[in-house]
Amino acid sequence: MTDERYDHEPPDLANLFRIDGKVALVTGAGTGIGRMAARVLARAGAMVIATDLDGDAATETAEQIRGEGLGAAAYAMDVTKEDQVTAAFNQVKEAHDPVSVLFNNAGIIRKAPSEELSLEDWNAVVDVNLTGVFLCAREAGKHMLAQGEGSIINVSSMWGHAGGGLTPNVSYHATKSAVIGLTRALAVEWGPRGIRVNDIAPTFLRTRITQALFSDQDLMREIEAFAPLRRTGVPADLAGAIVYLASPASALVTGTSLSVDGGWTAR
Ligand SMILES: NC(=O)c1ccc[n+]([C@@H]2O[C@H](COP(=O)([O-])OP(=O)(O)OC[C@H]3O[C@@H](n4cnc5c(N)ncnc54)[C@H](O)[C@@H]3O)[C@@H](O)[C@H]2O)c1
Repeated sequence: MTDERYDHEPPDLANLFRIDGKVALVTGAGTGIGRMAARVLARAGAMVIATDLDGDAATETAEQIRGEGLGAAAYAMDVTKEDQVTAAFNQVKEAHDPVSVLFNNAGIIRKAPSEELSLEDWNAVVDVNLTGVFLCAREAGKHMLAQGEGSIINVSSMWGHAGGGLTPNVSYHATKSAVIGLTRALAVEWGPRGIRVNDIAPTFLRTRITQALFSDQDLMREIEAFAPLRRTGVPADLAGAIVYLASPASALVTGTSLSVDGGWTAR
C-alpha cells in the first residue's frame, strides 16, 4: 500500500547535481582550489566567472574552461577592494546574468609566532580572508536576493574548527573561524529569502599556498600518520563537495561547515 505522504519518487539523479545556465563566480580562481572549483562548476553546467588578483592567471583558467567547449569569462578582481568587487558583480550582471553561485575562495597566510605577528600582517590576513569574503558575499547576496535564489560557498579550513596547527598561525585560525561564523549568520539572515550559505573546511591540499609544507617529507609522514584516512589531498578532492553545495542536491542544506579533511577534526 502506498501513501503519498510517505512514499515519494527519488529525484532524477542526472539533474540533481547540475547547475546548467547558472552564473558561478569564483574568487582566487587563478590557481589551486579556485581554479579547480571554476573547472568543476563549468563541467556541472555553469557559466563561470573566474576572478583573481592576478588577472592573467584568471584568464588562463577561463581559457582552460573554454578549451573544453564550456562557458567562462575572466576578471581581475582584488577581493579587498570594495569598488572592484562591486564593479565586477555589476559587470557580470550586465554581460551575462546575475551571479547565482559564489565560490568565495581567495585566501592568504602570514605565519609567525603570535607574540611577534605584526599588525600589518594581521591586517593583511583579515583583509583578504574575512573582509574579502564578506564583501563578495554581500555583493553576491544583493544580486541573489533580487532573484530569490542562490548558493554561496565560502572556503574556510579545518583550522577554523581547530586551533592546533603545526606552526603558529593565529590570524589564519581566527579568520577561518570567523568565516564559519559569517556562514552561519548569513544562512540564517538570507535563508528565508532563498539564499543558501555554506562553507567547505578542507585539510592540507597540495597547492602553491602549502608548497613549503608538502616539500618537507618528514612532516608529511607525520601528518599522514595522524590523519584517520592516512593522507592529505589535492584540490580535486573538493570536487564532490563543491558540486553538491552549488547544486539542487543540497537544497535543504544551509549554514553548515562541510569538513573535507580526511577525518582530521574528528579526532
Ligand atoms: N591548500 C590548502 O591546504 C588549504 C586548506 C584549507 C583551506 N584552504 C583555503 O583555500 C583557499 C584557496 O587556497 P589555495 O590553496 O588554492 O591557495 P593558492 O595560494 O594556491 O591560491 C590562492 C589564490 O587566491 C588569489 N588571491 C590572493 N589574494 C587575493 C585577493 N586579495 N583578491 C583576489 N584573489 C586573491 C591568489 O592570486 C591565488 O590565485 C584559501 O582561502 C585557503 O585558505 C587551503
